[in-house]
Amino acid sequence: MTHDRFTGRSAFVTGAGSGIGEAVARALHAEGADVVLADLSADRVRALADELGDRAGAQQLDVRDEAAVRAVVGAPDVLVNVAGIGSTTSAPDTPLEVWEDVFAVNARGTFLCCKHAIGGMAARGSGTIVNIASIAGMVGLRNRAAYCASKGAVIALTRALAVDHVADGIRVNAVCPGTVDSPWVQRLVHDAGESLDALRARQPMGRLGTPEEVAGAVLYLASDDGAFITGSSLVIDGGLTAA
Ligand SMILES: NC(=O)c1ccc[n+]([C@@H]2O[C@H](COP(=O)([O-])OP(=O)(O)OC[C@H]3O[C@@H](n4cnc5c(N)ncnc54)[C@H](O)[C@@H]3O)[C@@H](O)[C@H]2O)c1
Repeated sequence: MTHDRFTGRSAFVTGAGSGIGEAVARALHAEGADVVLADLSADRVRALADELGDRAGAQQLDVRDEAAVRAVVGAPDVLVNVAGIGSTTSAPDTPLEVWEDVFAVNARGTFLCCKHAIGGMAARGSGTIVNIASIAGMVGLRNRAAYCASKGAVIALTRALAVDHVADGIRVNAVCPGTVDSPWVQRLVHDAGESLDALRARQPMGRLGTPEEVAGAVLYLASDDGAFITGSSLVIDGGLTAA
């Protein structure tokens, strides 16, 4: 097992203030990358960057804001789009603003970060992008209409970018986590009234995934280990959608 796959490489991680994004940023940093931790929540990424020390920087960023994204994303060797928000209703119960918000963060935010990183990556002739989608973009999950649609958009965008930029030396992949134990799931339980035990019970492995397990797959795709992989969407769900 290699532990320095990212030495000398730069990485930009959105949603790095919590859960999966934090785990991805920590893992990239541990394997030698210079990491920018970007998040809507400036306090959280500042604290994390301070904790990581050398090779870590914090960036307050709203991925919905094109001017802000253009100003800070740069041309990292590795871009990981993790920032995302959920929804907890069927279509008839989804206010238009919720649909717009979910798409603004999950689909537009991912699009904008890719859009403004790709020019510099292409000029250099290299770059890898990993977008965090979800199994919700592949199968219908009850009462998450806007979220499912937005993650389907991320998967389709990933394929489109992979095709457009393969000749630029850029690889673009997605990961599709199932239910991962993060602050997100705690909110889901609170908002949608689902029980943690019920979420665990539907898992073939009888447990939720961990942010570190998702990070492991992200690093595989982003590193040279994934050199022949582009346009793919890797499911990491403990067998949930296989059942
Ligand atoms: N936890 C799961 O079960 C699960 C499953 C599948 C996919 N995902 C996806 O993984 C990603 C991260 O999930 P998580 O569980 O770590 O959630 P989380 O809520 O713990 O973290 C999400 C982070 O994104 C940030 N963020 C939200 N809106 C933003 C914006 N406009 N600009 C910048 N940052 C913003 C938040 O501040 C937060 O730090 C999301 O895209 C989510 O859809 C999570």
